[in-house]
Amino acid sequence: MVKIVLDTAQDVAAQVAKIYVKQLKDKPDSVLGLATGSTPVALYGQLVKKYQAGEIDFSKARSFNLDEYYPMKADHPQSYHYFMKEHLFDKVNFASSSIPSGEAKDPKAECKRYDKEIEDAGGIDVMLLGIGHNGHVGFNEPAVTYSMGTGFVDLSDSSISANKRYFSADEVQPTKAITMGIGDIFRSRKIILIITGENKAKIAKKLFENQIHTDVPACFLLLHPDVTVYLDKDAASLI
Ligand code: PGA
Repeated sequence: MVKIVLDTAQDVAAQVAKIYVKQLKDKPDSVLGLATGSTPVALYGQLVKKYQAGEIDFSKARSFNLDEYYPMKADHPQSYHYFMKEHLFDKVNFASSSIPSGEAKDPKAECKRYDKEIEDAGGIDVMLLGIGHNGHVGFNEPAVTYSMGTGFVDLSDSSISANKRYFSADEVQPTKAITMGIGDIFRSRKIILIITGENKAKIAKKLFENQIHTDVPACFLLLHPDVTVYLDKDAASLI
């Protein structure tokens, strides 16, 4: 696992955006795994700028997002469908963009369908990840067992409270999600993990203790041959 520490979250976003420019130059039909949450917002801003400047072209690229709440309508402002449209998909030109459906009647069947879609696309070239305060990646929450493929999961109390800030008092906050599994993430050929902000310093420290804490799902990344972790100084302050 390679660690790169830059001054600010904006510096991280600018640096990681350059990787995507190169990736799509080298392989225009790349399959990109994408994440939601506050972490990737700055990166998506950079990618939109680069697209508008003609520096990057997504027209042959496909994307697969990590997760979606369940149940969740795609047009709900707190859905990850909505988030991705707002921050990226409405502003750049992906050939196709896939996100697990929070509206599927049978969520378990949706998990299988999503895995098949990823497999049919040839797997993920570059997987972008953020990390939860509890070490989750996607919505793979700390547990005794982890799903290999896309799973229909309960959110941890920690994730529910971390995401509460996005929901207004009269909105029902989902407690379940459909998420790519640890195996889906692990099969990605290259993984980029972004960790920014002082409030992620503790979990970043844990990840770099160089031990597999089985209750920290992101620790599985220590076993992957191509993971680069980009941190800002605040997130790296305890390492
Ligand atoms: P955040 O979430 O970027 O909003 O902190 C990251 C995550 O939960 O994976």
